Amino acid sequence: MKHFLTLRDCSKEEILDILDLAITIKQEFLQNRLNTSMQNKILAMIFEKNSTRTRVSFEAGIYQLGGMGMFLSSKDIQLGRGEPIKDTARAIGSMVDMVMLRTYAQERLEEFAHYSPVPVINGLSDLFHPAQLLADYLTMIECGIYLPDRAYNTPHIGVPKVAYIGDGNNMANSWLMLASKMGFELRLACPDGYMPDEKILSLAFEFAKKSGGNIIVCPSPQEAVSGANVVTTDTWASMGQEDEKEIRQKIFKDYCVDEDLMAKAAKQAIFLHCFPAYRGQEVSEGVLEGKQSRVFHEAQNRLHAQKGIMVWLHKNRA
Ligand code: CP
Ligand code: NVA
Repeated sequence: MKHFLTLRDCSKEEILDILDLAITIKQEFLQNRLNTSMQNKILAMIFEKNSTRTRVSFEAGIYQLGGMGMFLSSKDIQLGRGEPIKDTARAIGSMVDMVMLRTYAQERLEEFAHYSPVPVINGLSDLFHPAQLLADYLTMIECGIYLPDRAYNTPHIGVPKVAYIGDGNNMANSWLMLASKMGFELRLACPDGYMPDEKILSLAFEFAKKSGGNIIVCPSPQEAVSGANVVTTDTWASMGQEDEKEIRQKIFKDYCVDEDLMAKAAKQAIFLHCFPAYRGQEVSEGVLEGKQSRVFHEAQNRLHAQKGIMVWLHKNRA
């Protein structure tokens, strides 16, 4: 049985298979043909952190696939009162068909999956946000920024060059995994002391050697963005880092993706952001709402990408 906990554990072929499913299900959905391959299946969605997009996209997605979503805030279930993960995993897993978990430490997800009798999906941890990255790559494919590993219907521009600006957080780690597995060029510009996890960085270098990808640590946002096809960033203070907000605003002040920075990217470059976004901090209002921004296309693709993940896990279980 497969879980979807991190792209580190997925092969390139598996990522492409999930995306193929997502693309097919999206096309059918847009033609009012519903894929109901998860009819009567129940997805439990456990949230130990807040969410807008992840909750709505998983819940709408499972309904549209013919199943049912059950929202469980850790504030309301015994997990929030300290019930061990291994007990929660076995109890919930014995009554539903799939579980999505948003949590803090990646180890909590790994432990949940270890004890769960049903597939588990990472809905964000402190370390990774893999479901988001599939939505991001789906958006890139639809914008013609992809490697032609499979036959997609849009013209493409060659090897994607992605610039990630800002905090070396769960989104940066996830971009490292996606880029190094798929064979993109990823340029990272993060302040000193805020680089991604060292182990993940070394893994990405290792994966990139095999895939033909290129991971570059840049000394400045300007250098990272120069000629990039995708410019992306994320909040400077992730969930759980609320106490560091003020100090981080000072440290990250030169890492705002504004119009001047965006102008250094390739002419047709797109801007992505997983949301929630903080205007005037990691991104300017002008870039977020500007012509090159594809952030709402990206947000909607959570729905489609995650249908691909759920159907793929369900198929692999059968
Ligand atoms: N991008 C993302 O996961 O958004 P939410 O926190 O709103 O789910
Ligand atoms: N890095 C952010 C992503 C939110 C979707 C966080 O973890 O809060």
